[in-house]
Amino acid sequence: MEILRSLDAMREWRASLAPDQCVGFAPTMGNLHAGHTELIKTAKHRSDAVVASIFVNPMQFDGNEDLGAYPRTLEADLEKLEAAGATAVFTPATTDIYPDGLSQHTTVNVPGLTDVLCGASRPDHFRGVTTVVSKLFGIVRPNIAVFGAKDLQQVLVIKKMVRDLSIHTEIDVIPTVRETDGLAMSSRNGYLGHDERALAPLFSRTLEEAANRIAQSGSDIGTVIAQSKAVLADAGFIVDYLEARHTCDLSYASSLNQETAIFGAVFLGTTRLIDNRIV
Ligand code: PAF
Repeated sequence: MEILRSLDAMREWRASLAPDQCVGFAPTMGNLHAGHTELIKTAKHRSDAVVASIFVNPMQFDGNEDLGAYPRTLEADLEKLEAAGATAVFTPATTDIYPDGLSQHTTVNVPGLTDVLCGASRPDHFRGVTTVVSKLFGIVRPNIAVFGAKDLQQVLVIKKMVRDLSIHTEIDVIPTVRETDGLAMSSRNGYLGHDERALAPLFSRTLEEAANRIAQSGSDIGTVIAQSKAVLADAGFIVDYLEARHTCDLSYASSLNQETAIFGAVFLGTTRLIDNRIV
């Protein structure tokens, strides 16, 4: 596995590939877990060469989230990427990505889809995601990029960006990888204290039960959402949002006439967890 630590190294490596080679890409912020390994395996299955990037993107952190505290575990990450079969890993410096600083950098904004759910709670977050992902796509020039369904809103936003900007990268999405107790894998799970970690699976269970109740009995969506929020709040979660929305445009779902998902974000202490379940 090649370790490409600069823009020049990445561009040189990319230029060395034959034009007909299919390049798969998995962008990450490091601190890798089994969910990331699945991204690499999927990309490998579908392409000739697989690049992963590790870049803790300062532009997508908000004031309440400590960029400095985000876990950096490069050596362990490289071992995991190699074992999963990555061909190359791109680990740019912040100055490679934002040479004139964050405030002077051109940004990419996807309207509409970024105004709700996580976008409402973290107003600048998706602008940071789409800016860095479009930039990484421009550098890596992947044929396929793989993302996880745990960040379903992020997936929808990136798909719209790719469509709107006519970017020649196919977006592939893999199912959420979960711990055996159902908790969606996330780099942020490591922030949970012992008691919080024990409570955390109730979040995914509650979303799953809500999705099942709505799907099976056609229960009133508003009632199920209200009851699910109460279950979580009574157990000690602070519910940021829990909403049923259509996955095509993130509009509120009052009926199941289009694909619908229950989207949730909760705090356990200071740790913010997100998850979703398709109804
Ligand atoms: O999902 C993530 O880890 C990040 O948002 C991404 C896509 C790597 C962009 O920094």
